[in-house]
Amino acid sequence: MNAKVYEAMNDQIKHELYSAYFYLSMSAYCETENLPGFAKWLKVQAEEEQEHAMKLYDYLLDRGEKISLKAIEQPPVEFKGVKDVFTKVYEHEQKVTGLINGIYAKAVEANDVASQIFLQWFINEQVEEEKNASSVLAMVTKLEGSLGGLYQLDHQLGMREAD
Ligand SMILES: [Fe+2]
Ligand SMILES: [Fe+2]
Repeated sequence: MNAKVYEAMNDQIKHELYSAYFYLSMSAYCETENLPGFAKWLKVQAEEEQEHAMKLYDYLLDRGEKISLKAIEQPPVEFKGVKDVFTKVYEHEQKVTGLINGIYAKAVEANDVASQIFLQWFINEQVEEEKNASSVLAMVTKLEGSLGGLYQLDHQLGMREAD
């Protein structure tokens, strides 16, 4: 594999695991705020991020590459409410979209067609991820100040199943 494509993909394993760590930290925060539905939604999200990391891991091994796991930084621990949490989720997903697009650009440059096809799954997934994050953020923003509305949304988000 082209070294630049390899390095970007190997680094992306860390970014996906950081996403899992970040969302798990947010999930724990929501538990302590007595919002179990928000916590569940974020925990399912954290599990999905681990799956994303494993997709990259498996792909690199399939291509005969070596896995070099990098250090994962500590995520934030304190948040200022669910609006702050979902603002951060949405911003984070936008950042990840940029990273995926960057890897894709490297794969195009290296004429690595297999990696381009592999990355299409992630490109589509990021459209979903941004949509989900922005829709929860929009609901949270709308409900600001309504405790009843917040608990209703908490109930709704708690119904999210792992896919
Ligand atoms: Fe991801
Ligand atoms: Fe994500």
